[in-house]
Amino acid sequence: MTTFPKDFLWGASISAHQTEGAYATDGKGLSVQDTRPRDNKDICDFTVASDFYHNYKEDIRLLHELGLKVFRFSIAWTRIFPTGVGLINPEGVTHYHDVIDTCLSYGIQPMITLYHFDLPQSLEDTGGWSNRATVNAFEDYARFLFTEYGSKVKYWLTINEPNIMLLVDKKILGKHIPLKEKYQQFHHIMIAEKLAFKACHELVEGGQIGPVPNISIVYPATSKPLDNQASLYFNSIRNWLYLDFACKGIYNPIALDYLRQKDVVPQMEPGDDAIMKSAYPDFISVNYYSSVTVEYPEADVDMMDGISDQQSEDIMEKGFYKGYTNTFLTKNEFNWTIDPLGLKTTMQHINDRYALPMMITENGLGAYDTLENGEIHDDYRIAYIREHLKACLEAMSSGITLLGYSPWSAIDLVSVHEGMQKRYGFIFVDRTEKDEKQLKRYRKDSFYWYQDIIKTHGETLQKEK
Ligand code: BG6
Repeated sequence: MTTFPKDFLWGASISAHQTEGAYATDGKGLSVQDTRPRDNKDICDFTVASDFYHNYKEDIRLLHELGLKVFRFSIAWTRIFPTGVGLINPEGVTHYHDVIDTCLSYGIQPMITLYHFDLPQSLEDTGGWSNRATVNAFEDYARFLFTEYGSKVKYWLTINEPNIMLLVDKKILGKHIPLKEKYQQFHHIMIAEKLAFKACHELVEGGQIGPVPNISIVYPATSKPLDNQASLYFNSIRNWLYLDFACKGIYNPIALDYLRQKDVVPQMEPGDDAIMKSAYPDFISVNYYSSVTVEYPEADVDMMDGISDQQSEDIMEKGFYKGYTNTFLTKNEFNWTIDPLGLKTTMQHINDRYALPMMITENGLGAYDTLENGEIHDDYRIAYIREHLKACLEAMSSGITLLGYSPWSAIDLVSVHEGMQKRYGFIFVDRTEKDEKQLKRYRKDSFYWYQDIIKTHGETLQKEK
C-alpha cells in the first residue's frame, strides 16, 4: 500500500495581505489589495486581517506544535519596495528575516510565494501588468529576494494563481479588465515568471522554484460532442495555457485558437520567444479546491444559470463554454463544488502533460466556524481534508511524485471576497468582520486531527473510514 514518505513536506499556507494586517506600518507602501473597492461593505478589509505581522512569533510556535515541516507564506512586495521599484524599506527586509528565522528555529522550512495578488499600487498607477515595465520591476524584486533570503530559503513559488486573478478579476482585484488587456497582462505575467525561474536558479544555491496556478480539471456536462468541446476549450483556457507556458515554453494551441477567435492575441516583444524557452520550473505547485463542469452554451441561454466551481458566474464565454451544476457532486456553504476524486484526476492530467514532481499548496474548506467555550468543532473541515489526502495517496500510488501537501490555511485569514466569516484555518482567530476584539488564537478540532496525521505520517488516515 502506498504511504506518505518520511520526508513528505507536511505544510500549511497563507498569503501576506490576507493575514498580516499592519497595512501601512513600518514603511510599507500600499498595494492594490489595500486600495481595492469591496463589493460587500459589510465584510472586513485587509487593514488588520489576522494581525500576523505582530503575532508571527506566537503563530509560528503554534504551527510548530501542529508539526509542520514547511510553511507557505508570501512576501508583501510593498514591504520591501514600498513603491514597487527603487528605494528599499529596511524594516520590511528585516521583518521577513525574522519570520524566516523563526520558522527555521523550529525546523520548519519556509516556502515563499513571491507575489500573491498584491501588486504595489504605485505600479498599478503606471499601468500595472499592462505595462511591460512591471515585468522588469518584478524581476528586480525577485532577484532582491533571492539574494537576500536565498541562503535560508530553498523552496520558492512565483506568482499565485495568475489564471484565477485574470479570470475572476472583479472579485480579486475589484475591477473588470477588458479581454484584450487581460491577455496582454497574461503575457507579461508569464514572462515575469520565466525571469524569476531563471533568477532563482542563478542566485539560490540548491533552490527549487515552481509556478503556482489553480488547476482544476474541467468535465463536460454530458457526452454531447459540443459539451466535450466546451470542456476542451475551458481546460485549455483555465489550466493548460498557464502550465504550457511555464513548463513547455509555448502557448497552448487550443487556448491560442480561442485568443485568435476573440482577436486578443497578446503582443510579443522581440526576444520573448527565447525568454519563454530560457527557464523551466523544478516542480509544479497546485492549488485545488473544486472541479469544474461546463456545457456548450446554446443560443439565448442564461449564461448565469449554472454555477460550477469557485469562479461561479465568471465561467462563461459565449460560443465556447458556460458553467454547469454537476449533480453528482455536493457543494460547500459558499457554493463551491467538492470533488476529492477530481484532485486525483487533475494530478494525473498534470503528470501526463509535464511529468514533474508536484506539491499541493492550497486545498481546504471555507466554512462558518463557531467558537464555543474555547473550542471549534470543525468536523466538516476534517472530512474535506481527509478525502483530499486520500485522493493524494491514490494519485501517488498511480505513479505521481508528490513532494508535499500544504492546505489552505494555517490560520484563519480574510477570504479574498468573502471576508472573515469564511474561515479556512487550523487555528481560529477570534475577530468578526468589524470587531477586531483581541484576535486571540484557538486550536480547532482540525488542528489536533492534522497534528496526528503529520505525527503518524498519515497512518491514521489509512485507518480512518
Ligand atoms: C485561492 C487564493 O484562489 O483561493 C487564496 O489563492 C484564497 O488567496 C483561496 O483565499 C480561497 O478563496 P476565497 O475567495 O474563499 O478566499
